[in-house]
Amino acid sequence: MAKQGPRQAGNALFREVFGTAPGISASAPGRVNLLGEHTDYNGGPVLPIALDLRTVVHARPAYGFRFASTIAPGVVERRIEEEPRDHWSDYLVGVVRELAALGVDLQGADVAVASSVPAGAGLSSSAALTVSAAAALSTLAGKRLTPEALVDVAWRAETGYAGVRCGRMDQTVAVFGRAGKALEFDAGTGERRLVPFAGVVRLIDSGLRHALVAGEYEHRRIECEEALRRCRKLIPGLNSLAEVPVRALPRIRRELPRTLARRVRHVVTETARVRDAVDALRRGRPSQVGELLFAGHDSLRRDFESSCDEADAIVALARKSGAKGARLTGAGWGGVVIILATERSASVVAARIQEGFARKFGRTPTVWEGRASGGVRIER
Ligand code: GLA
Repeated sequence: MAKQGPRQAGNALFREVFGTAPGISASAPGRVNLLGEHTDYNGGPVLPIALDLRTVVHARPAYGFRFASTIAPGVVERRIEEEPRDHWSDYLVGVVRELAALGVDLQGADVAVASSVPAGAGLSSSAALTVSAAAALSTLAGKRLTPEALVDVAWRAETGYAGVRCGRMDQTVAVFGRAGKALEFDAGTGERRLVPFAGVVRLIDSGLRHALVAGEYEHRRIECEEALRRCRKLIPGLNSLAEVPVRALPRIRRELPRTLARRVRHVVTETARVRDAVDALRRGRPSQVGELLFAGHDSLRRDFESSCDEADAIVALARKSGAKGARLTGAGWGGVVIILATERSASVVAARIQEGFARKFGRTPTVWEGRASGGVRIER
């Protein structure tokens, strides 16, 4: 993480590259998902918190689009009609195109981006970028979008132009996250509820940036679609995998191919775990949430097969070191493990995990602290 915050860093970059001050700045947070993995695109609930790591987009009206970022050298010029380039600026082009589709027309903009959200760590750096860009650029065009429209623009930019068929969790929490709260978002009904979450979490980076994440993720989506088609033959009228009742699992196990039945079991049990976790947080029993995290990790490892050795080792070390709960968070196949521990033990637990991990893998994993923070905002 840069020593100065992303707001100052982006401001300085803007001045350096474009020779003037930005007209508007907006920021949005990365997120960590407490529970509810791979449930959003299966019509189920998720329970993320917005983090105090943020992406800031600074912008000024211009003719044509020029984009700069603290993560990559140089300035990219883009035309919004052109094809995606498999480049970070695709997310910005996607946002401009989606705004245009809503009638928010921009002739052009100079944009500088800075971020404290680590890219590719499973903390949703892409939604932090698309949401902050949607807020900055719509404001620049003189149009205030509703929070729901911001989610939509950001989600469409990612799924359409940038081409990742993600669910709506990341964009939703980047807009609706609040300090001291987790966000229960039901992707099936679109309902959102804030749930008290005062604790500090530790995030341990597995260090793995799986090059094929988009491919693995898409592969799981296709499996889930196929599983839904087959479950519909057994349960007429079924809308989504998250709606499959727990009592139907033994039959699904008998009738579906083994792999697909395991994917369904993950979605169904994970849906139940989110509901239980929300209940525990509401009743002021955060310690019960920890066990649900451990169970969630086992389910990712065994049934959804989206974990990796590094994450499994971190979770095992967390258990041994007295953490209340731990699991791989985000899309999977690498990225970050979230650890829940008491205030008193958190630093010791994190240090033990680092030591144990270093013994096994020969490197010390990075640890971040995170707390539930606010969603998108205009900085000025
Ligand atoms: C990524 C996607 C989300 C969600 C998670 C897995 O973060 O962007 O929509 O599907 O993976 O839970």
